[in-house]
Amino acid sequence: MREIRIGIIGTGIIAHQHMQMYQDIEGVRVVAACDLIPQKLDCFCKRYGIEFQYADYRELLKRDDLDAVDVCLHNNLHAPISIDVMASGKNCYCEKPMAGSYADALAMYKAAKRYGVKFHIQLAMIYGGEVIAAKKLIDEGYLGHIYHARSYGYRRRGRPFVDGYAEKEFNSQYWAGHGALYDMGVYHISQLLYLLDLPKVERISGSIYQEMPMDEERRRISGFNVEELGLGLVKFENGLTMDILESWSIHGAPFPASSIHGAQGGLQFAQSGQLKYYSEIAGYMAETTLDVASEDYRQTQLNPPSRLLYKNSQAHWIGVLRGECPQIDTPAIALQTMLISEGIFLSNQLKREVSAEEVQALSVSNAITEQETPFGELVYRKYPFQD
Ligand SMILES: NC(=O)c1ccc[n+]([C@@H]2O[C@H](COP(=O)([O-])OP(=O)(O)OC[C@H]3O[C@@H](n4cnc5c(N)ncnc54)[C@H](O)[C@@H]3O)[C@@H](O)[C@H]2O)c1
Repeated sequence: MREIRIGIIGTGIIAHQHMQMYQDIEGVRVVAACDLIPQKLDCFCKRYGIEFQYADYRELLKRDDLDAVDVCLHNNLHAPISIDVMASGKNCYCEKPMAGSYADALAMYKAAKRYGVKFHIQLAMIYGGEVIAAKKLIDEGYLGHIYHARSYGYRRRGRPFVDGYAEKEFNSQYWAGHGALYDMGVYHISQLLYLLDLPKVERISGSIYQEMPMDEERRRISGFNVEELGLGLVKFENGLTMDILESWSIHGAPFPASSIHGAQGGLQFAQSGQLKYYSEIAGYMAETTLDVASEDYRQTQLNPPSRLLYKNSQAHWIGVLRGECPQIDTPAIALQTMLISEGIFLSNQLKREVSAEEVQALSVSNAITEQETPFGELVYRKYPFQD
């Protein structure tokens, strides 16, 4: 088995999760890492036995022994740094959401084509047993004509940083672009877009909210100015619709997980990882729970290599780098997800439904990049985006 050598940029919370995923895959070695904070970088490298440390990602990109570079940075850094990775001729894996705006995501999408490299976005919820099962049911016609989907995500009180978990950058438009829809909504929307075969978006409406009180000191430190609740309605071509409800924080009972509805049957995901199928049997309304775990186990025993390639995002990516499977087009799915989220923000701003073309025309870059001042201090400035 060919060894796959990875460089990683950013050694924060998500980089630790990536390391754990890579450690589970045979023949993957993370050989180089980069972070602006030397102590953090050093701890990370010592913990995972990573040989080479870099303070400047551009130096890491000069290496000629990497199969891919993994970008684990704040959202508004995804575009400039992923594009630099791809311009250096290296395959690029980037965290979700794809970027801090649709315009930035589109520039990344085009860069992958321009530089002819492999490019992948972390969309964790398009893999695993329930999604494989849902896709099989849809492909085999168990739902019939599909006309509606619900993209739902719920936290009762889980805003990053101000409610405890994660760093302050999640809450600031400057670093993250937006809030709950970008952070969690991306997983649920992209899962449905993948299962629905990436339908073309026509019109979007929606609203965003930040209403609930929070720890005032943490609000000040993080400069909290993003949504804690996002909701929307998307109209696709051929009459398909999707409603969206994504909460970091709300006074209310848990929402049901996402679902897909067709003329012959419906699919309901569950927080527990179960998949339910709703249909009619001999005139009776029926609710079937699919034993996803057992079938997943059986298929993994019968056909381990191919099943493992759809187990999670990293396993899929490594399989793609080794040429073991065709790549799920995550850049296209992630770009469409960005279009939908940005449509909700634009609709909220204009107080009306917007078209996909309007979102595309009005989207602007949110990207930032770091620069050194004459005094050796590192500051971030608006990225001078050229596409
Ligand atoms: N925290 C989570 O649970 C989680 C989950 C899923 C996805 N994500 C995504 O992962 C990304 C990063 O989030 P995080 O929680 O790991 O953030 P984090 O703040 O924990 O880590 C980001 C790291 O990047 C470093 N950094 C910033 N600019 C840099 C530069 N120019 N060069 C090198 N290093 C630089 C920072 O010093 C920091 O160590 C975000 O896009 C987020 O949406 C996070």
